[in-house]
Amino acid sequence: MSENKEIKKVTTHTLVKMKQAGEKISMITAYDYSFAKIFDAAGIDILLVGDSASNVMAGHETTLPITLDQMIYHASSVVRGTSRALVVVDLPFGSYQGNTKEALNSTIRIMKETGAHAIKLEGGAEVMDSVKRIVDAGVPVMGHLGLTPQSIYKFGTYTVRAKEEEEAEKLIKDASILQEAGCFAVVLEKIPALLAGQVSAQLSIPIIGIGAGGACDGQVLVMHDLLGINTEFKPRFLRTYLNLNELIIGAVKKYIADVKSHDFPNTSEQY
Ligand code: KIV
Repeated sequence: MSENKEIKKVTTHTLVKMKQAGEKISMITAYDYSFAKIFDAAGIDILLVGDSASNVMAGHETTLPITLDQMIYHASSVVRGTSRALVVVDLPFGSYQGNTKEALNSTIRIMKETGAHAIKLEGGAEVMDSVKRIVDAGVPVMGHLGLTPQSIYKFGTYTVRAKEEEEAEKLIKDASILQEAGCFAVVLEKIPALLAGQVSAQLSIPIIGIGAGGACDGQVLVMHDLLGINTEFKPRFLRTYLNLNELIIGAVKKYIADVKSHDFPNTSEQY
């Protein structure tokens, strides 16, 4: 009997089943082909082409400057490196807030030009009609509540959100609205763990946390933070799994020394 080598792709249905089975969902950001390929081979469930590309890839202070064209470039590279994971792409600031048609048109460009599987957008009640329109067009939508970086100038700081009762109640309501509107999952960023646990227990769709505690159905981290590429960002919620910054500096210093000392290339490294 021949072995079935077909890869079982992660779908939005897989994620709901994982929540029902109590299996945690793993999600990491990716912005290019090579890292997407590595993360996919490692068995990650969701690859998020986050608009954090604006920070970690382009060096901007906020996520606001990145354009739809730039997100499409990153997303199509990630999709080419992915065989198993679900690829979710952020709708960037200014590509969906205008009206539902703008939101749908931006989504259609992402789906047609990248081959990604789903989009993510920030906000609650205010994006409900856009979520409905995108889902009606057949595209899975992931929501994002709590600290929503596209609204950083409204918040003023990157501090923990929804600590006060009024904001916490609005977040619970917004999460239900997103589920009702058809979202297949919601990211909760930087909110109290108790609140995130309450939302995870109340909703039937998976809740993916970042700085939202261990009761969420899954976790997401930005790849540059997790791998220790970005050494300046040290929030309490971050666990760094590698000091890639140090490893890369060591390797490049060795390369420079080898070039300067005439050690590289040697006779077996030339034609
Ligand atoms: O853009 C991003 O990386 C994100 C995650 C932090 C959830 O939205």
